[in-house]
Amino acid sequence: MCGIVGYIGRQEAYPILIKGLHRLEYRGYDSAGVALVNPDNVLNVYKTRGKVEDLERFCDTKDVSGTVGIAHTRWATHGEPNDINAHPHFSTNGKIAIVHNGTIENYNVLKQALIEHDCEFRSETDTEVVVKLIEYIQSTNDCSLVDAVRGALKQVVGAYAIAVVDCEDPDMIIAARKSSPLVVGIGDHETFIGSDASPIIDYTNQVVYLGDDEIAIIRRDAPLQVINNDNIPAKIDVQTLELSVSQLEKGGYPHFMLKEIFEQPNTIYDCIRGRIVNNDTEIKLSGVIDHPDRFINASRVVIVACGTSWHAGLIGGRLIENYTRIPARVEYASEFRYANPVITSSDVVIAISQSGETADTLAAIKLAKERGAFVYGVCNVVGSSIARETDSGTYIHVGPEIGVASTKAFTGQVTVLTMLALAIGQLRGTVNKSQLLEAIANIKKLPELIRETLKLNDRIEKLSRTFTYAHNFLYLGRGYNYPSALEGALKLKEISYIHAEGYPAAEMKHGPIALIDKELPTVVIAPNDDLHEKVISNIQQVKARGGSVIAIVTKGDTEIPKIADYVLEIPPVAESVSPVVVSVPLQLLAYHIAIMKGCDVDMPRNLAKSVTVE
Ligand code: G6P
Repeated sequence: MCGIVGYIGRQEAYPILIKGLHRLEYRGYDSAGVALVNPDNVLNVYKTRGKVEDLERFCDTKDVSGTVGIAHTRWATHGEPNDINAHPHFSTNGKIAIVHNGTIENYNVLKQALIEHDCEFRSETDTEVVVKLIEYIQSTNDCSLVDAVRGALKQVVGAYAIAVVDCEDPDMIIAARKSSPLVVGIGDHETFIGSDASPIIDYTNQVVYLGDDEIAIIRRDAPLQVINNDNIPAKIDVQTLELSVSQLEKGGYPHFMLKEIFEQPNTIYDCIRGRIVNNDTEIKLSGVIDHPDRFINASRVVIVACGTSWHAGLIGGRLIENYTRIPARVEYASEFRYANPVITSSDVVIAISQSGETADTLAAIKLAKERGAFVYGVCNVVGSSIARETDSGTYIHVGPEIGVASTKAFTGQVTVLTMLALAIGQLRGTVNKSQLLEAIANIKKLPELIRETLKLNDRIEKLSRTFTYAHNFLYLGRGYNYPSALEGALKLKEISYIHAEGYPAAEMKHGPIALIDKELPTVVIAPNDDLHEKVISNIQQVKARGGSVIAIVTKGDTEIPKIADYVLEIPPVAESVSPVVVSVPLQLLAYHIAIMKGCDVDMPRNLAKSVTVE
């Protein structure tokens, strides 16, 4: 979703801004733009539909000089993706430029009021309203830009992260946020802005995460100043990033997605590290240890998340019920927030989010907190809004995930949720010692099991050729692997644009069976577990109707290879952690089919990595 970069300092801003935009491409976008104040204090704004490369080509012959500027990648919400709707937007006098991430809900009301004051609009965006409002306030009140921005933000309803430059004050950038992320990077005589730390890390690891309703006044060669909308100075908390530039690069892989799939033995190791203690006899999650009563006395767990994180939540919900005996419900955050849910102070709400910025999940958290629940975050991005908004939590620590289709974050989330369920079970005494030791041993084996499973890559690549023709796919699984089926189908949809549905295998006969014919491949997740025999019957039902079956089975299975068309063998794995291993062939299958179809797997059409609007 939209990305913001800003720079003020002693270097030329343009190359820094362009590099920053490339770093933010993974968020998903359809147009890009840049605004620079040149040495003659003229504001130059360049923007175009398409990729950052298109913007660079467009700027080839333009004046891109200047040591202060802001830039943007836009993911269209208000108005189609075109040159005019692209950011930055600028004031009527051409002196003030703005970039914005978020949604201004009352933009139409503000726009009508401004039109009544003879203000004209070029674009269909909500963002242009903000810059025109700033200009209007500045000219009618004869006030400073800071006061005009403050005044405008007081009138705005919605979510925003903005950055503003004014060529009449070329030594300053103003940045502000409410519900959309914004990070300020503090360098040596230079300051950076980013929607996340990725455009900043090349230059400094010292950052300040702006809080809601905070406004950063970034002056050249002056300390950062942060105020709130009422002009009261806010505390500045400078943090050190634990991020390295190499984590943001492909490291020899053709795509981030493939790199991230192959990173999983290490990311799961990182995720577990330090959390299994006392000679592998205990799970230690400080987020749980610090609040024992909230878990011991919990009457219910409600998990909220979106997309892939919701699938991880479905597995987490089952694990929590299994190990803690606390009833668990799993909700789409977007549904939960508007459902007027019954939430009480004895509830534990677990919010799962890779980015930690998903607008619906953030809103669900706020609602749960208002109703007194204890809110626990399972996030990847350190310092993200959700990580800061929750009462406690556990990071999954899988490193930056750049591919839009989530892979290593999913397996990290499931691993953390497994440890969380066990940690709560330990506290409540609902898991006995032998269960705990066995579960811990199973978790510890995961990195090696994933490493082994990745050896399927070549075979899956070959197999994928067979399926590029398909227009539909069915994914079936049972128990813990029903959510794996949903996730497998989502991966394929997201990056290959093939329609795919995930179903509990036994539910197939209540509808999807009608779809089965030789054109519809069915992926059946069938490792050796308690429901193995039942899944074999489901495969028979597909075969009896002429469907082709790709089965994911445990090495040594002698039954399924006799009936399935294609078999992918995974090493033996305990049922409760099997989704982590099973997800590897599912990810590889989606990846290779998408590649064979010539799709852009890292930046699939219309999708965004970090969904910061509703
Ligand atoms: C987007 C991404 C998905 C992700 C979902 C939730 O749709 O493309 O990969 O699962 O948002 O994001 P979150 O950051 O909250 O996990």
